[in-house]
Amino acid sequence: MEFRRCGKSDLNLSALGLGCWSFGGGAYWGDCNQKDADVVVRRSVELGINYFDAAEAYNAGRSEESLGLALKGLPRDTIVVGTKVSPSNCYARTLPDHCEASLRRLGLDYIDLYMIHWPIHPHSIRHFTEDPAIIANPPTVEEAFATLADLKRQGKIRHIGVSNFATNRLDEALRVCPDILLNQLPYSLLARAIELESLLQCRRLGIGVIGYMTLMQGLLADLYPTLDLVPPYQRRTRHFHYTRCELTRHGEAGAEAETGTALAAIRQIAKECGMTMPELATKWALAGQGITCCLIGARSVRKLEENVRAAAEPLTPEVVEKLDHATQPLLDKLGNSFDYYESYENNRTR
Ligand SMILES: NC(=O)c1ccc[n+]([C@@H]2O[C@H](COP(=O)([O-])OP(=O)(O)OC[C@H]3O[C@@H](n4cnc5c(N)ncnc54)[C@H](OP(=O)(O)O)[C@@H]3O)[C@@H](O)[C@H]2O)c1
Repeated sequence: MEFRRCGKSDLNLSALGLGCWSFGGGAYWGDCNQKDADVVVRRSVELGINYFDAAEAYNAGRSEESLGLALKGLPRDTIVVGTKVSPSNCYARTLPDHCEASLRRLGLDYIDLYMIHWPIHPHSIRHFTEDPAIIANPPTVEEAFATLADLKRQGKIRHIGVSNFATNRLDEALRVCPDILLNQLPYSLLARAIELESLLQCRRLGIGVIGYMTLMQGLLADLYPTLDLVPPYQRRTRHFHYTRCELTRHGEAGAEAETGTALAAIRQIAKECGMTMPELATKWALAGQGITCCLIGARSVRKLEENVRAAAEPLTPEVVEKLDHATQPLLDKLGNSFDYYESYENNRTR
């Protein structure tokens, strides 16, 4: 497993990280029993993965709990645990309790990487709370990062990160907290928007990037023969027409023709290269300039091992270029917004 230095820091992350959102089971990903989580985490460590990603919001805390159980007994200094606080919980008076609750659920006495899950503003916060008082008077950016700095001083967290922060939000956060280590952002063959602005900004500033949606929630894993067979939660993105799912919020016509054409081309390139589609998609994401670590959610050792195999050898620049070319029309259609769940105008990342 390749290790990559995170931005300008001394933190080294495995190029592939394990996404633990499905752990603990819930509506989005369905069931996940503890035995499977235990086995996948143990095997990840054996295969050289050191980064494990969770959030307080995932399955109402059960993801952190399940990850904590799975990590029990592993040497603490060989694993890097990242989790996220919801933007609605970033008041100076509430953030320390949320950090303590995450520590308790994870069974740890410090968190390696503590991130703010989405930018702190009313439109983003609405997705985390229905409390009108919080939506009307969200935490300030200053108090959120000052509190994180306190938690770092106390040794409760080792590094401060953000997630889903567009360039203006990252600039604003860096003004009050210069030691932000990284930004966690969506990045895959079907979700390339960060190439247009955020990835360039992070490279310029020496900020690490953890990419999520590496397999576009299963679409790039070749799990679904047609777009009609994609499950409801995974077809809420701007790739799909808004009528595809009653849970969809974006209200846009989608980019189904471009998505279908891109998937067919990726499948064909994978065939020509003698690789599976998830293998090729993972390799492409790992080749991204400025990408520190690519997250993959996997609940079985078979899938995990396939993803780790993909990380062993890089793609040639010619294949990367072919894939870039095949997915360019989709990137052009979806544009520079990397909030794939909201309309272009309602983008929560800005
Ligand atoms: N910061 C954020 O806002 C944010 C948002 C979304 C996700 N994330 C993080 O990113 C992690 C990854 O989640 P994601 O949403 O990006 O999903 P993803 O990793 O793109 O896709 C996960 C899906 O791909 C399947 N899969 C994985 N490897 C496979 C393989 N080799 N062959 C076939 N199928 C395979 C998984 O199956 P099984 O699960 O059934 O094994 C699951 O259905 C999350 O766990 C979370 O930590 C962060």
